[in-house]
Amino acid sequence: MVIEGGRPLRGEIPLQGAKNSVLPILAAAVLTGSRCRLRNCPQLRDVDIMLETLRYLGCRAEQQGNTVEVDTAAISRCDIPEEYMRQLRSSVIFLGALVSRCGQADVAYPGGCDLGARPVDYHVAILRQMGVQVEESGGRIVCRSPGRITGVPLSLLFPSVGATETAILAAVLAEGTTTVVHAAREPEIRDLCRFLRCCGARIRTGRDGSLEIEGVAALHGCTFSVMPDRIAAVTYLAAAAVTGGEVRLKGARPAHLTAVLPLLEQTGCRLLLTPDSITLTAPARLRAPGTVCTMPYPGIPTDAGPLLMAMASVADGTTVFVENIFENRFRCAAELCRLGARIRVENRVAVVQGVEQLYAAHVACTDLRGGAALLTAGLCAQGTTVLTGLRHLDRGYQVPEIYLQKLGACVRRRDV
Ligand code: UD1
Repeated sequence: MVIEGGRPLRGEIPLQGAKNSVLPILAAAVLTGSRCRLRNCPQLRDVDIMLETLRYLGCRAEQQGNTVEVDTAAISRCDIPEEYMRQLRSSVIFLGALVSRCGQADVAYPGGCDLGARPVDYHVAILRQMGVQVEESGGRIVCRSPGRITGVPLSLLFPSVGATETAILAAVLAEGTTTVVHAAREPEIRDLCRFLRCCGARIRTGRDGSLEIEGVAALHGCTFSVMPDRIAAVTYLAAAAVTGGEVRLKGARPAHLTAVLPLLEQTGCRLLLTPDSITLTAPARLRAPGTVCTMPYPGIPTDAGPLLMAMASVADGTTVFVENIFENRFRCAAELCRLGARIRVENRVAVVQGVEQLYAAHVACTDLRGGAALLTAGLCAQGTTVLTGLRHLDRGYQVPEIYLQKLGACVRRRDV
């Protein structure tokens, strides 16, 4: 991607559907054994891989524009080869769905962004507590459930997003009621529950985020619209902020970003909010937000960390980032430094001393959100930045260069 930095972004764009919502929903479609139509589904590499996996399993799965049609009636196998599993983390969510639908599942360990160790022990422990026999050997996880899975009380050690999704998928068709205390409360979890309720599942969400899932005998298909992507929202807002621009994101839900929006205001950005749009007007120079600590929802999302880091790189003052979810979230810091950012990383803490100007360089995406941070930084760097490793970016952003061009950025993809 070739980025001529320095143009303030101006205008309005629609926000894509949420990657982290549609991926578990596609796995959940396996439970319905029938046809589901998903609207507002982003066109992403990760979605392509989930659809390819569904086809491998014998299902029908097609995407036309932003609509996906899945028919899981004719599922013919319950194993997933390594080449599918390795490409994304959400592939592990098939485990709960397959063992519930077919009584068995045999999958390789999942891949996804390299953010440090990403074990699956919570997923395995949950399935075992629900009576599933799980064996891990030769790089594969093999599950068997001779009868129906049993609903049980579950209490998560950490509100893991993926583990909560596994618990939900294993529980909706289980015998009896499952409660999940200390469940993840991310909006994408709510969206998954909304989808499953549309399919006939019985899920109640407590005020504290706990879940009560009463197993039903069968689910049916439905038509469902995927929620907007709150991390893509932060990405385009950060791009507007670093370029001194003014951008309106149509479809963005302020209610999903209650921790991030005050932070953007602290940097001097002005925000105009409606229930489904966010307009950001950037100041001439951003102010450092001081401290950014990532937390499970409703805290600042770990995925927003690198984007806020790109903003802090050009803000007036010093910002301290504390990452509380992953071991290695700041892999993009070294690449940001190539653009002239001043960042010191010590384990899960990064100190960013804002500079007045970044300068163009050749940089490489380190992971999905790190890549988005480099793209954001490139938009305000003086000169022509070349960004490589776009396979990371394409996993989570639908044609970002087209949306940025609509906002007046000078960005293009170069054929290699
Ligand atoms: C999901 C999101 C990812 C986001 C993350 C945290 C998707 C596709 N990805 O990832 O973008 O950054 O939530 O909001 O939705 N852990 C274990 N054992 C497990 C599972 C998790 O130790 O079995 C640890 C992880 O290593 C990590 C922490 O728990 O340190 C949180 O992980 P989790 O919430 O599960 O993230 P993901 O579902 O992988």
